[in-house]
Amino acid sequence: MLDSNYFHYSGSTLSCDEVRLDELATRFGTPLFVTSSKSLTDSYHAFEEAFAALPHFTCYSVKANYNLSVIRSFAALGCGCDVNSGGELYRSLQAGVDPQKIIFAGVGKKPEEIAYALRSGVLMLKAESISELRAINRIAGELQKTASIALRINPNVTAETHPYITTGDSKEKFGIDEAELPEVFALLGQLPNLRLIALDMHIGSQIFDPEYFVAATTKLLDIFNATKSLGFPIEFLDIGGGFPVTYDPLKPATPITHFAEKLIPMLQPAGVKVIFEPGRYLVANASVLLTRVLYKKSNHTGKEFFVVDAGMTELIRPALYHSHHEILAVTSHEKTIVADVVGPVCESSDFFARHRVLDAVEEGELFAVMSAGAYGAVMSSNYNGRLRPAEVMVTGSEVKLIRQRETYEQLVVNELL
Ligand code: LLP
Repeated sequence: MLDSNYFHYSGSTLSCDEVRLDELATRFGTPLFVTSSKSLTDSYHAFEEAFAALPHFTCYSVKANYNLSVIRSFAALGCGCDVNSGGELYRSLQAGVDPQKIIFAGVGKKPEEIAYALRSGVLMLKAESISELRAINRIAGELQKTASIALRINPNVTAETHPYITTGDSKEKFGIDEAELPEVFALLGQLPNLRLIALDMHIGSQIFDPEYFVAATTKLLDIFNATKSLGFPIEFLDIGGGFPVTYDPLKPATPITHFAEKLIPMLQPAGVKVIFEPGRYLVANASVLLTRVLYKKSNHTGKEFFVVDAGMTELIRPALYHSHHEILAVTSHEKTIVADVVGPVCESSDFFARHRVLDAVEEGELFAVMSAGAYGAVMSSNYNGRLRPAEVMVTGSEVKLIRQRETYEQLVVNELL
């Protein structure tokens, strides 16, 4: 059972910090994302502590959870942001993040997004192709600015994780191929509005084995040494995100300290600042998705279903990546049942669990889908005309609504008849 310091049973009732989850469901309705602010803070501190010996700058990858209050929680701790679009940049600025603490990534930035980033004064833009370098140079020239850039390198390291979230392999769209680098370095001499200040990589997400980071960092350091001899003033090495979390207690994540033990001695001698871009590590276990059981049903094969009021529209990870999320009854029961937990969406992939041993709750009772803080709410959609859920943040006994539930009016607000 994934019973953390942040989500724990008091008596038979699952609570977040000092607040009962059943009370939150009654007050705010379901589906509802509940985030523990203490969990956010503690994860950030654990990350910072692990890498304390290394001069570094941590940029929270806001794609994991871009709620303004979540971004602001990290900014208040001194953390920067890694953004992947104009929209994420806008969100980070709205949350009050200093533009000089924002790094702008993305394999397909539109000209207006590049201009927005330059006008906002972000710390750097990451370039992922020769064409993009030319585009950034042209737009910076038009704006009479010098663009600080990072080169995102594709280190051709295939990390063992779900194939949809591995990014450092040569067959993927991400980064600049090593073979192209001589051409890139020659070109940089002809692009007067660019200043190369960083080398960057990101090899994927939910990577359990530090050796993949070691292999890719070795390549990045080789390239760093080459850039030094070419006279580029590299200030930062960005080794991306991808640090793992525990979704399934039977498959505990490698502790962050194991990554630090391997990476610090490798990176320290470079004498530059290291950037990290953790997303999932900082937020995944900070939130649960609360959902109410609408119906119980069974069929002639003996199969049992809980039909709940949340689905793939709120948390698509089980449908898209077959990800495991623990499911806890908000009011625990002694009796258990083997069942599927399925949502209301018209897709057979709309399930949270299949053939899972669960507390035998009744209709009208609540489940908490655990570890829903990363790539949960941000990947939610209006498919089937569903309303995006509300989100609350809990600090001790205090509860704050951080996103209102969508309304039917909002569903059609942009449409014209
Ligand atoms: N930096 C870059 C350039 C990235 O593309 C990503 C994630 C991160 C940092 C943060 O990675 P993290 O520390 O969160 O692993 N939706 C998928 C995950 C997609 C990750 C995309 N890129 C999921 O639910 O598993």
